[in-house]
Amino acid sequence: MSSENFPKFPPGFLWGTATSPTQVEGHIENEWTNFTAQDGGNCRIACDSYHRYPEDIGWMQRLGTNAHRFGIEWSRLQSAPFAPLNQKELARYIDMIDRLRAAGITPMVVLHHFSNPPWINAAGGWTNAATIPAFVDFVKQLVPVLREKVFLWNTFNEPDTYACVAYLLGGFPPQKKWKLGQFRKVIDHMARAHSQASRVIRREGIFEGRKPEVGIAKNWTFFHAYKRFSPWDRLTAFACHYTFNKFVLDAFLGGWRRRASTFIGLNYYGRVRFHHFYPMIPASGAPVSKLKDFGFVCDDMVERYPRGMEKILAYLHRKFRRPIYITEHGAASADESFRERDLRENLAALHRSIQKGVNVRGFFYWSLLDNFEWQFGYTKKFGLLSVDFADKKLPRSMKPLAEVYARICRNSSRTDVPR
Ligand code: FCB
Repeated sequence: MSSENFPKFPPGFLWGTATSPTQVEGHIENEWTNFTAQDGGNCRIACDSYHRYPEDIGWMQRLGTNAHRFGIEWSRLQSAPFAPLNQKELARYIDMIDRLRAAGITPMVVLHHFSNPPWINAAGGWTNAATIPAFVDFVKQLVPVLREKVFLWNTFNEPDTYACVAYLLGGFPPQKKWKLGQFRKVIDHMARAHSQASRVIRREGIFEGRKPEVGIAKNWTFFHAYKRFSPWDRLTAFACHYTFNKFVLDAFLGGWRRRASTFIGLNYYGRVRFHHFYPMIPASGAPVSKLKDFGFVCDDMVERYPRGMEKILAYLHRKFRRPIYITEHGAASADESFRERDLRENLAALHRSIQKGVNVRGFFYWSLLDNFEWQFGYTKKFGLLSVDFADKKLPRSMKPLAEVYARICRNSSRTDVPR
């Protein structure tokens, strides 16, 4: 891919990378600590970014990115409900944020990314309404500390994925299956927590005299029937769309709740098509090569559908009239030219959307590093940088896609958003 002739993005556009605490930090005490992934791996060391974050920021500088989306892990900061924040752990996050800003990298902070403190899990996690005030207390204590340092706040990452995989599919702890009532409860409680946390952030946070920006990151997957005329597959696709897209968007952004989000974070990867009720994607076990015979273009997770990027952006823009950040997009594959094509096609779709008037303010590549991909362990390689997990020192190195992304970032104008 030649990035030299790549379309120019608007001034101020954020080019970033994304990670999450459980997937990269290591040395964490949450529900994932004792979880063994399908490949036998666990997150106990992960990429050791807990210690190596200065080095990781150095890599971001080499990439030339101007933004980074990462999580602040609740379980590190509170040992009991309403407990004061752990000052040592807080100092580490502050140091990380200060280093990012000194490097000209705008931080976007995620407050919940698929993990909870053990005492929250022991009390039923997000199925328990008592989690809402506990979470809001965490936010209330954190925001004043990060005033004038953080402008972009992302409360919840993919509540839809979390509630679905933990309570319907059994992939994430607590590994419940088909508990639709609990799924709905989790979404409802998180949506309430988002509204309350958002109020705190906008009241307590301040950045160079401006109120900070707040939003969730919604995963958007298109659900379609493989055969357009199969009534059963169409019904399955509709049920998934209704449950994971419509119900969740309504819960977080419907009616008066819309005011709780100043931006919309979109995590967009692609689509899932159903054939005889079966989701035709590698994440459900279908081999990429077999799917190819059906005419599906997939990374190691889902079907690629770059046209969908334009469709969903147009829909969100029309419906909510809020600025949008692509808080995640990426591909997992050992084939770097496949990943380049995927990036190029999705960015082209994104660019067309901006030209049509959709206010997209930034793009965060998932992920900076190869990392612990939840129930799949270390087998899904989403990183711009590879990590040699066989070597105790966990050395990082640039993959070919990182060079491409670096050229794209370098060619695009720098940000005027506060850092
Ligand atoms: C998203 C998650 C992220 C990672 C990518 C591949 O759904 O937010 O943690 O798992 O998918």
